[in-house]
Amino acid sequence: MDIAKINNLIENHELKVAVFGTGRIGLPTALMYAKAGYKTIGVDINENLIRDLRNKKTFIDEPGLPEILSEVIDRNLIEFTIDFEYAIKNSNVMIICVPTPVNQNKIPIFTAIEDVAKKIGILLRKDQIVINESSVSPTTIETLIIPIIEQNSNLKINDDFGVCSCPERADPGNIVDNWDKVARIVGGSSDDVGKMIVKLYHNISKAEIVQVSTPGTANAVKLTENIFRDVNIALMNEFAVLYEKLGIDVKEVIRGSSTKYNFQPHYPGPGVGGPCLPANSYYIIKDAINVDYIPFMIRVAREINDRMPAVVMELIQNALNFTHKSLKGSIITVLGLSYKANIKDVQISPALKVIQLLNEKQANIQIWDPYYKGENVLGYPVGNSLEESLQNTDCIVVLTDHKEFYDIDLKKIQKNMQKTVVLVDSRNIYEISNLPQNIVYCGVGRKIRKI
Ligand SMILES: NC(=O)c1ccc[n+]([C@@H]2O[C@H](COP(=O)([O-])OP(=O)(O)OC[C@H]3O[C@@H](n4cnc5c(N)ncnc54)[C@H](O)[C@@H]3O)[C@@H](O)[C@H]2O)c1
Repeated sequence: MDIAKINNLIENHELKVAVFGTGRIGLPTALMYAKAGYKTIGVDINENLIRDLRNKKTFIDEPGLPEILSEVIDRNLIEFTIDFEYAIKNSNVMIICVPTPVNQNKIPIFTAIEDVAKKIGILLRKDQIVINESSVSPTTIETLIIPIIEQNSNLKINDDFGVCSCPERADPGNIVDNWDKVARIVGGSSDDVGKMIVKLYHNISKAEIVQVSTPGTANAVKLTENIFRDVNIALMNEFAVLYEKLGIDVKEVIRGSSTKYNFQPHYPGPGVGGPCLPANSYYIIKDAINVDYIPFMIRVAREINDRMPAVVMELIQNALNFTHKSLKGSIITVLGLSYKANIKDVQISPALKVIQLLNEKQANIQIWDPYYKGENVLGYPVGNSLEESLQNTDCIVVLTDHKEFYDIDLKKIQKNMQKTVVLVDSRNIYEISNLPQNIVYCGVGRKIRKI
């Protein structure tokens, strides 16, 4: 492989880039390459998406993104296509950003990345580089993707072409803002390939670029940081359920523990959502099974976090019973659909699971989420205002900690309501000392009380 030639293309901004998958991760990635001055092709199997992108339209609710899309189209730095052959033939570096979900049985599905690898392999030329940004297990690149490309191309890894893992660590809602801040992890099929890709990323981002020894190591870094978080949240969820039974307030405990120099606070809640955390553990579990190892802690953490919507459902039921009401027929106002605060994204959101459980119990649900005002989300209509969604409610349930919910005037709500307000705060966002008189309150790890 002619590393010097590719390095020259990088330095002279003559390198051509194709990004496969122009969704939440692929689109910002493609746009940032284009913005940095590299001719870029965004490729997707979704024709409507490509048509919209050509017309400067994106469904991705990411601050700053529409402006960059418009700018790079106007500067003729990006094109969008469903034509894989065109993209592969007209690029030096090909970046894969396709979905890698788990199925209902929690088995990782890597067929999209296999599909792209096969298409690339069939048309691959000498000196082309493939970068994977999709989340995969540590062994996926070396044991699945490189063999697929080699078999379909008859070319040899590192002699003829290079592969690199640069797992995406983006924080949805802040992707543009974080572009120059969040460090990137790069692991190449050889040290030279890794160094070359480090150089490339230095040309598109001011963030720290960290080279690790292999693609598998880079993917292990990504999974370790996410599973660390999943396991710690599970631990706090476990403490929350236990402390509630012991009559101890978990929010107070975390505040106290946080004063110790080596404690890292994590917070309990209604469960863990989004495209990464609920799936990433199962990638590691898949690799572990292949080497006859059972990662107990990782598995149990997933089970604890998956159980949390049912825990919240029980809290709602108990809180209503406290005021001599039952779930069946009660009006429940749900605050928040998104899987995390301040973004418009319901992928694997625990809020949806809680709503499904409430439906099964025949509760009447009214939803308010400022990010989905007046929309229909997966069959659930969202109100046009907080006031509308609070009408005749028996119980308010906070499922997402959107910043707008911290400032809700509970005093006014309690005053206007002709009955006691029941508030189930699954994100523990309210301070007990600030709650108005007469409200019935409970949280995850915070016992029911009438204020
Ligand atoms: N969204 C996040 O917050 C986030 C964060 C870090 C990592 N990731 C990872 O990034 C990867 C991409 O996730 P995303 O959130 O961008 O998904 P997405 O669903 O938003 O976008 C994926 C895009 O890939 C396209 N696609 C599917 N199969 C394809 C194929 N065979 N060829 C070409 N295009 C194809 C889809 O049409 C879609 O437009 C996943 O591995 C995910 O785990 C996501």
